Amino acid sequence: MKIRPALQAHIKEAAQILRQGGLVAFPTETVYGLGANAFDALAVARIFEVKQRPEFDPLIIHLASPEETRLVWSDQPEMAKELIKQFWPGPLTLVYFKNKKIPDIVTAGLPTAAARMPDHPVALALLQEAALPVAAPSANLFGRLSPTTAEHVAEQLGSQVDLILDGGKTPVGIESTVLDLTGDPTLLRPGGTPVEEIESVIGPIKIASTSSQPLSPGQLEHHYAPRTPLAIIKEPVQLPPGLKIGYLAFSTPPPELNVVQVEILSPRRDLREAAANLFEALHRLDQANLDLILAETFPEQGLGRAIMDRLRKAAGAHSPLKPAG
Ligand code: TXA
Ligand code: MG
Repeated sequence: MKIRPALQAHIKEAAQILRQGGLVAFPTETVYGLGANAFDALAVARIFEVKQRPEFDPLIIHLASPEETRLVWSDQPEMAKELIKQFWPGPLTLVYFKNKKIPDIVTAGLPTAAARMPDHPVALALLQEAALPVAAPSANLFGRLSPTTAEHVAEQLGSQVDLILDGGKTPVGIESTVLDLTGDPTLLRPGGTPVEEIESVIGPIKIASTSSQPLSPGQLEHHYAPRTPLAIIKEPVQLPPGLKIGYLAFSTPPPELNVVQVEILSPRRDLREAAANLFEALHRLDQANLDLILAETFPEQGLGRAIMDRLRKAAGAHSPLKPAG
């Protein structure tokens, strides 16, 4: 397995690998992505193999500039122009009708394609150097936690990736917000760009319901899960006796110290900082051989909405009080 610091020479090597149909894991401002040339159906198929996805799931196409939307979409609607002006590069993924050149495997057969321009110097340098749109899901195994460091990628995907570019810890730490623009603007996944900021530009947006058939597989309940069972708590609880418990706190340690590991996301109660630390803290808790992780409830505003979305999905993946063997 090759993990390389994201120096110019290694970015060049990575771009070459992408052009030749290989897979490169790279940092973005949100989480690490597992990238392949979006025009190369075979290379994209390998992404699904490596991630061990049971079914195909549409991927986000990463672009070096707003102009490149013409490579992936049928056109650029007015609303996309406004949002792109305001939020790109940045953690906002836009879904619009796709261009015929994008292979079906990238969009899982949907008539639409998701695109974003990441706000990370390594991702942008790689995209410019490769001169290709790059399809990339988060660089984790199916259903597991998204990676915010190169080490997380190596642990989960290891030798199956041709190259991992190490750009350190990703600053936003939570995946991009996904917004569908094919009809009335609809939120498919809360993420790194707060809903309130989007609404201040284009007015109220619809929130897709998670109960019916998912529009976006990121809405599936069992996503973003640590292997350890996780439960969300609203107030201090009586801890079940005899269990090894970890605790995910917003700003202060739990009142009851009968837990073996505590992770505090933001001592100054800053939701941006909490989001940036979320997956790393969950990775550490997941490695501590716990029976159960208890997570506090975060305020559902700004990035708190994305944090609670990820915690609910993690909690939905297991029945919390029956620890998995
Ligand atoms: O921050 C991010 O978005 C990271 C970095 C690497 O860019 N990527 C990421 O990709 O989170 P992934 O595959 O883990 O999540 C992509 C989300 C999924 O929920 C997927 O269903 C949705 O975007 N998506 C992709 N294409 C779509 C489409 N055409 N229509 C609806 N949803 C789509
Ligand atoms: Mg993912």
